[in-house]
Amino acid sequence: MGSLLIKNGMVVTATDQYQADVYIEGETVSMIGRKLEVSADKEIDAQGCYLFPGGIDAHTHMELPFMGTHASDSFETGTLAGLHGGTTTIIDFAIQTQGDTLEAALQDWHKKADGHAVGDYAFHCAVTDFNPETRKEIPKVIHEHGINSFKVFMAYKGALMVDDRQMFELMQELVEHGGIITTHCENGDMVDRNIEQNLAAGNTSPKYHVLSRPAICEAEAAGRAIDLAYQSGCSLYIVHTTCEESLARVKNATMRGQKVHVETCIQYLLLDESEYFKEGFEGAKVVMSPPLRKKKDQQALWDGINQNLVHHVATDHCPFCMDQKAMGKDDFSKIPNGAPGIENRFELLYSEGVVKNRISLNKFVEMSSTGAAKIFGLFPRKGTIAVGSDADIIIFDPQVKHTISADTHHMRVDYNPYEGWQVQGKTRTTILRGTVAIDEGKALVGEGFGKYLKRPPFKPLI
Ligand code: URP
Ligand code: ZN
Ligand code: ZN
Repeated sequence: MGSLLIKNGMVVTATDQYQADVYIEGETVSMIGRKLEVSADKEIDAQGCYLFPGGIDAHTHMELPFMGTHASDSFETGTLAGLHGGTTTIIDFAIQTQGDTLEAALQDWHKKADGHAVGDYAFHCAVTDFNPETRKEIPKVIHEHGINSFKVFMAYKGALMVDDRQMFELMQELVEHGGIITTHCENGDMVDRNIEQNLAAGNTSPKYHVLSRPAICEAEAAGRAIDLAYQSGCSLYIVHTTCEESLARVKNATMRGQKVHVETCIQYLLLDESEYFKEGFEGAKVVMSPPLRKKKDQQALWDGINQNLVHHVATDHCPFCMDQKAMGKDDFSKIPNGAPGIENRFELLYSEGVVKNRISLNKFVEMSSTGAAKIFGLFPRKGTIAVGSDADIIIFDPQVKHTISADTHHMRVDYNPYEGWQVQGKTRTTILRGTVAIDEGKALVGEGFGKYLKRPPFKPLI
């Protein structure tokens, strides 16, 4: 591999901002400085642009088999779309099939991703059936597969949900071997009863999705996960947090000295529950769990970011085309849960966050990249621009304005929840491990360019 010199850019990390040239040898950054006197195989002038660390999206579901269908993006199409938008690394969920092993799930996910992903990727291991055999597999998952994060679902009973006993025992096991638990927090039983009652009353349209999954379902589960984690001593990361009520439980936990890592997703910051009340079947586009919330919850999440209560803004990218969503035309509970976002997260967070003065430039980097890298053991290889780090760099033009549309996006899905949104700031060039992957909208790498990232046992950095 050759060398690359990026000249005149403004380097921005989670803590710093300075004008510098960045010199890359092979896959890593080897020098950063003012007016570097060095010759390189290739030079890029980044005058007027920010240099951000490659985005990390710690919550994706490529090709997820779910609710009788599959998420429509493959590892190839989904990670390529991510690269277009400024995301160079994903952490996807390898999900155990109940009754089967963790090993089988990991093999399955490697088969989908290895040799196909265009961007770099790691896996969380989702445990849906914690039994004596699963327990024995945990050390191997951590030490051989290089996976330090384990997911449990507190909803989707009969398919993915575990009970409190399973969750608690898994937490104890993770303390033993060096893992962090990540939780989908919704009270599955409460949700199922609400769905049952709504359907019995003839309430079948998409709006009953949100009406069956009120914030209290999420907050109750978040509180339970927090308490079980506290009692077991296990580190906890709550995925896709949506509401003020859940954040209140997190805040409360900090008062007894407990650290809770919190993820929200871009859609919960920008879209609200009024989407479900639109005409006809429109609301199906954003049927996801937990659902979109109220405007006051969006504000609580932005505040949470600035109060260091929220550590990462992911996507929960789980796209389904409209013909897949139509499976729930006559029954909202059959609409496949999930929505696209991987391509738009980075630019939307900049445009809606930094440009609108809701977050600082450094906070943008922390939320889009560094926070996830630090929590999940990718830092400092990923998540920053520093000597010795992987040269994953986004050359970002803060002046360029563009409009989001399904007609021009690269995700394999036939709608975009942000259709018509005006965005300020655009990923001009995406560099992944020293290679120009995307330049001015043109892909220069393809299927199989992405690398699997093994991670060390969990060690809290934030
Ligand atoms: O609706 C969602 N979130 N779909 C993906 C699965 C999950 O719960 O994360
Ligand atoms: Zn979830
Ligand atoms: Zn998810």
